[in-house]
Amino acid sequence: MKLGLEAKVAIVGGASEGIGYGIARLLAAEGACVAMVARRADPLNAAVQRIATETGAQTLAIAADIRKAADCARIVDSAAAHFGRIDFLINNDGAPPLGLMMDFDDQAWDKAVQQNLMSVVRLTRGAIPHMVQAGGGRIVNITALSTLQPMPQFGLSVATWSAVIGYAKTLSLEIAEKNITVNTICPGRIVTGRLAKVFDAQQAELAKQVPIGRLGQPDDIAGLVALLTSDYGGYITGSTFHVDGGRRANLL
Ligand SMILES: NC(=O)c1ccc[n+]([C@@H]2O[C@H](COP(=O)([O-])OP(=O)(O)OC[C@H]3O[C@@H](n4cnc5c(N)ncnc54)[C@H](OP(=O)(O)O)[C@@H]3O)[C@@H](O)[C@H]2O)c1
Repeated sequence: MKLGLEAKVAIVGGASEGIGYGIARLLAAEGACVAMVARRADPLNAAVQRIATETGAQTLAIAADIRKAADCARIVDSAAAHFGRIDFLINNDGAPPLGLMMDFDDQAWDKAVQQNLMSVVRLTRGAIPHMVQAGGGRIVNITALSTLQPMPQFGLSVATWSAVIGYAKTLSLEIAEKNITVNTICPGRIVTGRLAKVFDAQQAELAKQVPIGRLGQPDDIAGLVALLTSDYGGYITGSTFHVDGGRRANLL
């Protein structure tokens, strides 16, 4: 199946490791040029080099903190200046700390809003004019299953990513006529450095809670991103997908 990603330009957030790295690698393997973002330059540069060597794709490292407005502007400007266009924006990074709702002060809330919501708003607002110029585009937000099925301790992410889903749905209606799609993916448990940090339980124990019998891999998320960004994804917009091995306990 030809996905039609050759020479398309993607900005991929949180791409030095984990889910973002998996997305950047698959898009690059399918022929896209990838601008990869993370804060720490050394692991980012190593990841960018590894993908360039493995796939032969054109890659660009942009060391930036997506919680900062100026960095969001620099990410879009650098990718556009380097590659001459922007077709895809994959909003992905880390996440706010865990804790009880009653324990978070205004500063914690403000940081969470900057990280999970305002980064998406700013990067999207910056990238859309380039997508219009390119004749269309794809925006994919990575959130979490807990946004659809809340869990204690994950409240900062649940609340701010719910806002992202509302933002994405509304935006999808407003820019559909520009041939730009906007979708959100809610991963279940995916084997990354973050999973090991967040959950104390052994991976084998966590896997028992997944109907399909295993934890997810970054490629399980990257595969859906590739489909959504491909020629085959052009009719899918305003949608929210849970990719979780069957863990979500709802009909829809
Ligand atoms: N793994 C799971 O089971 C799972 C499940 C559901 C949802 N998610 C969500 O999916 C996203 C990715 O998770 P992951 O497991 O792939 O995490 P990860 O392995 O810890 O990777 C996070 C990536 O984001 C970058 N990053 C973090 N904060 C950033 C910031 N402020 N600005 C720019 N880059 C930043 C990190 O690099 P630097 O630290 O160098 O910046 C790294 O490249 C997170 O939002 C996570 O909550 C993960």
